[in-house]
Amino acid sequence: MDAYNRQHNYLRISLTERCNLRCFYCMPSEGIELSLPEHLLSDDEVIRLATLFVKSGVSKIRLTGGEPTVRKGIVEIVGRLNELRKYGLQSIGMTSNGIALPRKLPALVQNGLTHLNISLDTLDPFKFEIMTRRMGHDAVLRSLRASLATPELQSVKLNVVVIKGLNDHEVLDFIEMTKDSRLSVRFIEFMPFTGNKWDKAKMVPSSELLSRIQARYPALRKGSDELNDTARSYVIPGYRGSFGFISSMSDHFCGSCNRLRLTADGQIKVCLFDAKEVSLRDEMRRGASDDVLLRTIGRAVSGKKEKHAGMEDIDVVTNRPMILIGDVHRPV
Ligand code: GTP
Ligand code: 5AD
Ligand code: SF4
Repeated sequence: MDAYNRQHNYLRISLTERCNLRCFYCMPSEGIELSLPEHLLSDDEVIRLATLFVKSGVSKIRLTGGEPTVRKGIVEIVGRLNELRKYGLQSIGMTSNGIALPRKLPALVQNGLTHLNISLDTLDPFKFEIMTRRMGHDAVLRSLRASLATPELQSVKLNVVVIKGLNDHEVLDFIEMTKDSRLSVRFIEFMPFTGNKWDKAKMVPSSELLSRIQARYPALRKGSDELNDTARSYVIPGYRGSFGFISSMSDHFCGSCNRLRLTADGQIKVCLFDAKEVSLRDEMRRGASDDVLLRTIGRAVSGKKEKHAGMEDIDVVTNRPMILIGDVHRPV
């Protein structure tokens, strides 16, 4: 619980700084300097911290990166996290770019993966190469189809970062994908991070997209959202799936934030937009007991700010680039 009575039951664990794509909005064009392997948390360290968090009330874990599927032993890590159900863990999610999923999905699901969010910003293979600086559009679509056909996955969501003039005219095509499938598509406002050349003019506010969508689907209705959801969802009568907006810039949802983040190098980060971090890795490696670690976590959570600084004031100077925060899928 933080100073604003927000209960933090959702932990995002970044398992790697590496990625098999190079999305321009996620990492600086000059690339990033990777941490030395020994500076990253080992599997055992990840599980020790996850266990502490779950025993203290975390019921939802989401694995991120870089791209989590490039972490060696990812399938085994999911299996070990699954054992934390006995302490109250209810869901194990992953946010992936889908490139390596066709091979790994069955084993991940068998070991306990329950929720999958796939990132795909365009339905045009040529544009995919421009946005990600890599090939692989086909593989992502294959992952998406395979995920939707996997009943053990309780939800399959598609993350679309919308950039003005690049992919914003594809919004209606993405919505059509929800007609006959249980897919939930989320349009995400472009967010500023170190080195990603964010520009307000490239961001399309969700309200603008909604107006465009409403003009095409006048019957659309508001969907139901959980209190802590990042997205505000909508449904079109007769469509099986749904769509929604993650409006981190124009309409932040800090008031209901229930998230904590663990970076791949073992820092706890209480807010995506707060550069402040505390190293659980260093404490663990100095031999800290579980109680000491819990007190450190408690202090970090108590220091969480009420909300982020707003569109003009977000700290992109000292904060990490997105790929190192652990919301996403560093070069392999
Ligand atoms: P669900 O549990 O399925 O709701 O996942 P999610 O939306 O929390 O996670 P996902 O990894 O799919 O992230 C989707 C988008 O939401 C990304 O652009 C994230 O950066 C953004 N996001 C996730 N958590 C936060 C947060 O705490 N604050 C803000 N502002 N954005 C967030
Ligand atoms: N703005 C918005 N979303 C971003 N993501 C990565 N960088 C940004 C950014 N600058 C998205 C990825 C992935 C999710 C976890 O975060 O596309 O879907
Ligand atoms: Fe793209 Fe995700 Fe990789 Fe970043 S981490 S380059 S958003 S696929």
